[in-house]
Amino acid sequence: MQQVRGVEGILSLLTDRIDGEVMDAAGPQLKVISNYAVGYDNIDIAAARERGIAVGNTPGVLTEATADLAFALLMAAARRLAEGAAYIRAGKWKTWEPTTLLGADITGATLGIIGLGRIGKAVAKRAAGFEMRVLAHSPSATAADAASVGATLVSLDELLSQSDFVSLHVPLNDKTRHLINRDTLRKMKPTAILINTARGPVVDQNALYEALTQGTIAAAALDVTDPEPLPADHPLLDLPNVLVVPHIGSATVKTRERMAIMAADNLIAGVQGRPLPHAVTSG
Ligand code: GLV
Ligand code: GLV
Repeated sequence: MQQVRGVEGILSLLTDRIDGEVMDAAGPQLKVISNYAVGYDNIDIAAARERGIAVGNTPGVLTEATADLAFALLMAAARRLAEGAAYIRAGKWKTWEPTTLLGADITGATLGIIGLGRIGKAVAKRAAGFEMRVLAHSPSATAADAASVGATLVSLDELLSQSDFVSLHVPLNDKTRHLINRDTLRKMKPTAILINTARGPVVDQNALYEALTQGTIAAAALDVTDPEPLPADHPLLDLPNVLVVPHIGSATVKTRERMAIMAADNLIAGVQGRPLPHAVTSG
């Protein structure tokens, strides 16, 4: 609040909550908030609109990197990579055995994509290489959109009950907060694996913990948690069937560079009073 006083532009990270109070602390000369992220749930868009402040984000440039990470998590959870690595480091590997660390098949499995926007579609394309059946649930996508990436649009219930993997690609908002909760987890297969590279609060984490300990679903791989950072003593981290990484979906050298340039372009345009090249248009 002190540091924004008198500025015309704010470059924010997804960890910075920019609400009306922060905007007012900056003052009436504030013209632009440029978020170094594609997601903008950390910004009160309505408050910015009321004050005539432009908001920018970084869409497109992180689509492929994030889809890659979602697929990496899917594969790592299916084939129990983290458990296998820990098993070796702990000196437990004595000999090859037919039943050590058995996991789930990826090829031919059914993938359910919740949120078929840019990233969801990029995940669907990757799944085609693994001959997966791809189901998608997305209020904004059309059947033709889905078909263009080999996916079939279905209801949320159908997706949950049929998918071997469920991957989340929705923005966080009032409609998607705790979309994955006790009820929706119960609709999933007991062998299902949940992958979240979207936002932590899309999942009710207490319900997820319960589902993973009670065998309601098999495993989860999370790039995002609630809260972030997830404390090292969090109960989820005691579970062998949970893989958590520290919000690294867009963390490649090239992607972060493209995001930086895009965020800088938005910031400069806003300060100069020009339309932002990548403005947030919905809230
Ligand atoms: C990362 O989570 C982003 O929204 O860019
Ligand atoms: C595994 O390494 C095999 O040869 O089947």
